[in-house]
Amino acid sequence: MTDLLKLRSLDREAIEQILALSEDQAVGRPLEGKGVAMLFEKPSARTRNSMEMAVVQLGGHPVYIQKEEVGLGTRETAEDVARTLACYHDLIAARVASHSHLDLMAAAVDKPVLNMLSESDHPLQALADLLTIRQLLGRIEGATVAYLGDANNVARSLAEGCALLGAEFRIASPHAYSFPPDEFASLGGTVRTVADPSEAVDGADFVYTDVWISMGEDSEADAKRAAMAPFQVDAALMARANKAWFLHCLPAKRGEEVTGEVMDGARSAIWRQAENRMHTARGAMAWMLGVRR
Ligand code: CP
Ligand code: NVA
Repeated sequence: MTDLLKLRSLDREAIEQILALSEDQAVGRPLEGKGVAMLFEKPSARTRNSMEMAVVQLGGHPVYIQKEEVGLGTRETAEDVARTLACYHDLIAARVASHSHLDLMAAAVDKPVLNMLSESDHPLQALADLLTIRQLLGRIEGATVAYLGDANNVARSLAEGCALLGAEFRIASPHAYSFPPDEFASLGGTVRTVADPSEAVDGADFVYTDVWISMGEDSEADAKRAAMAPFQVDAALMARANKAWFLHCLPAKRGEEVTGEVMDGARSAIWRQAENRMHTARGAMAWMLGVRR
């Protein structure tokens, strides 16, 4: 049994296993008669629903837990929350404000712990994105993924996945919201930061963006929006890419990080991505529980 907190903790073979399990209709019911705790410190539409249905498809029972019910690190330590949930459940999943709480939870229990989004990482999203890329292009290796905007949780996990699987990841962000220069160096692969949005999308197969203001960031919203404005994905930018597909993890703000024309256009694959969240949640949990193909 294995935790899944950051995509970079996996290797290429593990990610390929998860993607294979995600598309395997005969993945089985490794959670038969077992529970999965799903703790949310932040709102969620896709992650909660895709995870709940994936647990059911694996034969298990999901229990949705709101942050007020446990008070992670306030009412009780993160370790004690994890130890409690491990008494009843075979897998513990959490969406947290502080990634360090996931590390504490994972260290405290033998049951596998799954990151459903932290301020630094969103591995489940990246797995769905990688599956979407493979379905649309027929391969991941050699693909070029251009990411515009905030160097955040979604961008980090996707960059790690691309680096591990041999896709080129180009990110264009305002300097104040970009990754440290060597962030991905140890993974090999090609993760490039470029200053100019046009340079990022030039010849890309996929153009990706995320909200400019992530959950919990409202205090700095105005300054951040102003810095992000030149990085909006619009039709002119998409035209510079090579018949690229548009990707977005959702939720989106039409008119901010992307125009409605691109978001709802013929080359938008956002609903395929959203559906793939369920398939890759199923594959990821099966893999964490030791299922292999
Ligand atoms: N993409 C994503 O994680 O969406 P939710 O915040 O709705 O779960
Ligand atoms: N970067 C966004 C992703 C939402 C799925 C956030 O953290 O709010």
